[in-house]
Amino acid sequence: PSPLRLGIAGLGTVGAGVVKIVRQKAALLTERTGRSIEISAVSARSRDKDRGVNLDAYAWEDDPVALAKRDDVDIFVELMGGSDGPAKAATEAALRAGKDVVTANKALLAHHGQALAELAEANGAVLRFEAAVAGGIPVIKALTEGLAGNEIDRVMGVMNGTCNYILTRMEDAGLSYDEAFAEADGLGYLEADPNLDVGGIDAGHKLSLLASIAYGTQVNFDAVELEGIGRVSIEDIRQAADMGFRIKLLGVSRLTGRGLEQSMAPCLVPATSPLGQLVGGTNMVVIEGDQVGQIVLRGAGAGEGPTASAVLGDILDIARGTRLTTFGQPAGTLKSVPAAKATTP
Ligand code: NAP
Ligand code: HSE
Repeated sequence: PSPLRLGIAGLGTVGAGVVKIVRQKAALLTERTGRSIEISAVSARSRDKDRGVNLDAYAWEDDPVALAKRDDVDIFVELMGGSDGPAKAATEAALRAGKDVVTANKALLAHHGQALAELAEANGAVLRFEAAVAGGIPVIKALTEGLAGNEIDRVMGVMNGTCNYILTRMEDAGLSYDEAFAEADGLGYLEADPNLDVGGIDAGHKLSLLASIAYGTQVNFDAVELEGIGRVSIEDIRQAADMGFRIKLLGVSRLTGRGLEQSMAPCLVPATSPLGQLVGGTNMVVIEGDQVGQIVLRGAGAGEGPTASAVLGDILDIARGTRLTTFGQPAGTLKSVPAAKATTP
């Protein structure tokens, strides 16, 4: 079989991680898919930055849209970030050219997922975004594949590594908010605009994407009831601990007869519960299905290795010939449902 050729736009934490895996594990990836996975071309803002990986063998494009349209690119891998601008333009260009796209960009999907999924289907292309939700945890594959025979009753969990890291380091190590924030930054957890993390917006993006897949509804990020961790003080954390609780940025979504409930807000959880025991950049997603009961997925929600792992999972799916739709069913069949005020979890 012919090699599968990647064009990678964005060479930061995640992009450099993907390049490293493709270089270091080439033989393994070929063994698993029967095709060799190669990088044709890459793009980022600065050509001169040291990214800890040798890029000499790949063509360079300053313009990600030009990269997306190259003849020697089969899969456009979008790892720049941002809900609009070059990420959106280049993704649209790739899909219009009938190229498959793999992205880690939850902001892009939360704002434009419906239109992009329709564009992909209209052009016979696949658009996958496993890395966009809960980092290394394959939660999208769980919902679209393993749990596809279920009606989903509820999806909830901790979906932002930065917030969980900050909250647990403040509680466990007595760090100030600024110290914990700086550590999370050093680990590559933060969005380019960290307000997306601490404001709960990034976690809200993820919740809205999971809700769409779980309930077969159109993504409705604007309807997520959002509160970040900005108002959580060290005193709140101490008082919660004294009472046997921990504070978690918890998301909950449910589809009821009243409509789609989606909330993302700091919540008290018992310190001894599985959610209470979740420390650092770890995420946990709890899914309740009518046949399977409760499934709990837990793992690294951010950082280079875990996120690159999820990107590679999507690339390998495509290499194997899997042609799944973006949200687990044709975009045109996703229901538009009213938003309902969230009740307590
Ligand atoms: P990052 O470290 O800030 O890297 C972003 C990369 O995109 C950089 O290489 C940057 O170039 C490049 N870039 C930005 N604007 C560009 C433009 N206009 N043209 C060309 N290149 C451009 O970000 P990241 O943490 O890797 O995140 C990338 C994506 O993955 C985002 O969508 C993020 O939400 C998502 N994600 C991240 C994580 C994580 O743990 N970090 C986890 C899950 C999903 P320069 O390097 O030259 O500045
Ligand atoms: N900034 C995100 C987080 C990256 O901290 O969870 C993973 O999506």
